[in-house]
Amino acid sequence: MTKVLVATEKPFAKVAIDGIRKEVEAAGFELALLEKYTEKSQLLAAVADAEALIIRSDKVDAEVLDAAKKLRIVVRAGAGYDNIDLAAATAHNGVAMNTPGQNANAVAELALGLMVYAVRNLYNGTSGSELMGKKLGIHAFGNVGRNVARIAKGFGMDVYAYDAYCPAEAMTVAGVTPVKSAEELYEKCQFVSLHIPATAETKGSIGYDIVKRMPKGGVLLNTARKEVIDEAGLIKILSEREDLKYMTDIKPDADADFAAKFAGRYFATPKKMGAQTAEANINAGIAAARQIVDYIKNGVEKFRVNK
Ligand code: 3PG
Repeated sequence: MTKVLVATEKPFAKVAIDGIRKEVEAAGFELALLEKYTEKSQLLAAVADAEALIIRSDKVDAEVLDAAKKLRIVVRAGAGYDNIDLAAATAHNGVAMNTPGQNANAVAELALGLMVYAVRNLYNGTSGSELMGKKLGIHAFGNVGRNVARIAKGFGMDVYAYDAYCPAEAMTVAGVTPVKSAEELYEKCQFVSLHIPATAETKGSIGYDIVKRMPKGGVLLNTARKEVIDEAGLIKILSEREDLKYMTDIKPDADADFAAKFAGRYFATPKKMGAQTAEANINAGIAAARQIVDYIKNGVEKFRVNK
């Protein structure tokens, strides 16, 4: 029987697992679970007889693929697939997919939550400020960025966006003002929300030179990836500019340093939780299960991300 393994170091809500199980079993497949694992060796053992794999931010590298002798498809239940070695997947004749958009609202809601938390001084009881009328810059206008724009407009924010790969019209129809460069976005906007993927081009790209362009009282929000930040550069500008804040859903490597140096204007969630809602788990988990069934039964390769 075709075995579908859900391997999640950070588990889905139970209700999402119930939904995944329903899809998998209705197709005549078998579901196996490896949740909250702590060692890579557990993953290597669990993938040995799996034909399909559902993961979240779990790392699927060449070693995992080597151990997964029967694997035909791996689906990242979520947007960013920087945790999958795509070339190795292709070399193993495997298909890799993501489930774009399925957890975007959850991440966007958290971005707005972090914004409110920042302007209300980390809920310390002192007088803060409001988001209404303030300029928000969305750095990359994909599924999450678009949801952030929609919600921010509800707060009465003035929304701008920069995305080298997205036509300006897609922004204007959403009531968002396109800008021509990332530099312009950071210069114009007191709030900048990062939604760029971690790629060779973006890794380490958000640091001293760009953040220093932000206006007084600037708040940088990261619900994207740790790797896009140049941590030393960000520490340098936060040290020079006591008016700046950094709110992140992905703990930097230098978390202790940030926390010690920037108390009251730095916050990191204990574990990446943007997509950690029952709704997002259900949407992304069930989409992943359906994509697996559709690929194995019908050869459908929609959402394939490796060549
Ligand atoms: C994504 O790329 O979909 C988000 O970063 C969520 O990641 P997670 O599934 O590890 O919470």
